[in-house]
Amino acid sequence: MHLDLYPEPVHTIAHLSDTHLLAGGARQYDVVEPETGLVAALERLSRLDLPPDVVLVTGDLADLGEPTAYERLKELVEPAAADLGAELVWVMGNHDERPAYSRILFGAESAREQDAVYDVGGLRVISLDSTVPGYHHGLVTPEQLGWLREVLSEPAPHGTIIGMHHPPIPLPLAPVDAIIGLYDHDALAAVLEGTDVRGILAGHLHYSTYSTFAGIPVSVASASCYTVDPVPAAAILRGVDGGRSITMTHVYDDRLVHTIVPLAEEPAVYNIDPVLLGALEALSPEERIDQLSRKDSEFNTSGRW
Ligand SMILES: [Fe+2]
Ligand SMILES: [Fe+2]
Repeated sequence: MHLDLYPEPVHTIAHLSDTHLLAGGARQYDVVEPETGLVAALERLSRLDLPPDVVLVTGDLADLGEPTAYERLKELVEPAAADLGAELVWVMGNHDERPAYSRILFGAESAREQDAVYDVGGLRVISLDSTVPGYHHGLVTPEQLGWLREVLSEPAPHGTIIGMHHPPIPLPLAPVDAIIGLYDHDALAAVLEGTDVRGILAGHLHYSTYSTFAGIPVSVASASCYTVDPVPAAAILRGVDGGRSITMTHVYDDRLVHTIVPLAEEPAVYNIDPVLLGALEALSPEERIDQLSRKDSEFNTSGRW
């Protein structure tokens, strides 16, 4: 129940990452079913009262870059995004292969960097390819930086969001940045400083984390396949079959709000009864505040939530 303390968001981004689909529905590590996590994520999105206007998937779309994995991904995600009325934005990850990615998802095979720009009702969304073919670490090339500088030279009405796979942030709980980090990130920071970029949404880590880069908020979404426990017993990092989530990013005039949405259906301990809540709609604003916020109100002592 909203009291209009804040205005409604202007844009809503469903941020999925690291789907890691495998050909033929194969499992990762013989255990994890990547398709199950993706289907759960799409089902969650179908429940939203305020559907996203962007579905952003920040890389590692196909675990081994197999063409049939991209075909299956497309078959699952494209109709779901269309039903939501959302722009679908794919981003390359280090597990992806540019030729299959470009051919199957965009209908034009290319081994070049897969950068793209979308205008979603005034919000500019940039898909920035931070991959290095044949390697796991990330890099944005000088040519890409020149292109990005040109794109950002003209501000967009609602600002810009960059989706990229490798997050340009320190990894204090994952001491593996030589393997998976974004190299030469200072050059990217120099291009982004002072532009209309309002947020960087990344993946790659398989856990959720937050920071800033060149003063810009960064949100890293976890994975819909296996996830990483950054504080495991007797290991540096541990991949686990659980903890899957997506992130909803709500774009307001003056800020972004990131909300982690877990994909597992955990046991309920209470449900706010929509019938009870509906009855409160008939009350005056003052009566409603009294019922909702006063600790000993009929609503708060009803035992119905
Ligand atoms: Fe990944
Ligand atoms: Fe990755």
